[in-house]
Amino acid sequence: MNVLLIGSGGREHAFAWKIAQSVHCDNLYIAPGNAGTAECGRNVPIDPLDFEAVSRLALEKKIDLVLVGPEEPLVRGISDYFLAHDNLKHIPVIGPGRAGARLEGSKDFSKRFMQRHRIPTAAYATFTRSEIDAALDYLDTHPLPIVLKADGLAAGKGVIICESREQARQELKAMLLNAKFGAASEKVVVEEFLEGIELSVFVLTDGDSYVMLPEAKDYKRIGEGDTGLNTGGMGSVSPVPFADEALMKKIEERIVIPTIEGLKKDEIPYKGFIFIGLMNRSGDPYVIEYNVRMGDPETESVLPRIQSDLLELLQAVGQGTLQGQQLEIDPRTAATVVVVSGGYPGAYEKGKPITGLESVKDSLIFHAGTTQDEAGRCLTAGGRVLAVTSLSEKAENAVARSVENAKNLNFDGKYFRRDIGFDLF
Ligand code: AMP
Ligand code: GLY
Repeated sequence: MNVLLIGSGGREHAFAWKIAQSVHCDNLYIAPGNAGTAECGRNVPIDPLDFEAVSRLALEKKIDLVLVGPEEPLVRGISDYFLAHDNLKHIPVIGPGRAGARLEGSKDFSKRFMQRHRIPTAAYATFTRSEIDAALDYLDTHPLPIVLKADGLAAGKGVIICESREQARQELKAMLLNAKFGAASEKVVVEEFLEGIELSVFVLTDGDSYVMLPEAKDYKRIGEGDTGLNTGGMGSVSPVPFADEALMKKIEERIVIPTIEGLKKDEIPYKGFIFIGLMNRSGDPYVIEYNVRMGDPETESVLPRIQSDLLELLQAVGQGTLQGQQLEIDPRTAATVVVVSGGYPGAYEKGKPITGLESVKDSLIFHAGTTQDEAGRCLTAGGRVLAVTSLSEKAENAVARSVENAKNLNFDGKYFRRDIGFDLF
């Protein structure tokens, strides 16, 4: 098969690494990819949001399957674009159409979906600009802290947890009246704060059947001990000790099955990954959010544990024959440490030469934000630069090895957390 993978982060390098191992993979193209994906296939410098360019590439390279890594092309309708063109519609796109992608693209839509299908989630209300007075009144009686969410995509920044009513009033006004997140905050979801510990659960579905992938936990804060600003993710682990059989059973029965059935009832076709961000509230799971893609950096811990042929599974999703597929899972713990640019998640510099990559023998390195210059040198090209994943029977050893190897990777200003998994192991 000829495969086209869309995206350029650590998640996509992990996908490329896994797909390239498949006996079914003849050629792998990554658009646009990074210096790491270039080792697994051919990078093609096109913009994933330029659907015409993507489809030209798909035809030219006789692509048999497209896998979309990030959410934005999905929310903008890349799957619908392929289906709407006679010369493209035979090519399965793994990733939902615009309708399904609203699970991530609109918080209000996803809350209404959960309510409609009785999926446990935080209580909420949605307000638009014209409802500002009602929204402010609503805040007056809301218990603290108050969670405000911009309805649309806001590059992971659209959620604000307000510790005081005054802060909530200011933030709500900034979002609704002053377009703090542009069009994304034209609508705001005001939500109950859920106390508990977070978990990321991943489902792959062909719209009818599903398989659950290994769960993971990610570490979003920049500082050790989960302090400081939120980032795209500083590390992840899989499996998660508190996600025992009893909790996973509740998650499957109360959340996964009603989600798949809900999509069917709502007549929303869905072929792709569903990433369910959950809060474990004293043994009961609540949905915080849906994403219509895999997590990053969770993918870098999840895929190395999957022993089955991923391309075979994706092909089954495309053909609608996922039913009965079983995953073989490596029981060891995978721990991922993300090495980031100094200053991230604030302003940071790019173009710093990276050294030490060859010295790492006993961990996997997934490139997140890297590029190659004409001389073939690897340079930093983003906030999150590299993800180091290690597998071990003992979780602590997996973390320790990833931390050791993160020390062996060098570029000006690098930073990483040494305490991934600190709350679990
Ligand atoms: P999101 O952008 O939806 O991933 O939200 C960012 C983070 O905010 C989540 O990963 C949670 O840590 C936190 N969060 C969102 N909603 C809630 C909630 N209702 N209660 C507690 N924490 C939340
Ligand atoms: N790790 C969280 C995300 O991918 O959104």
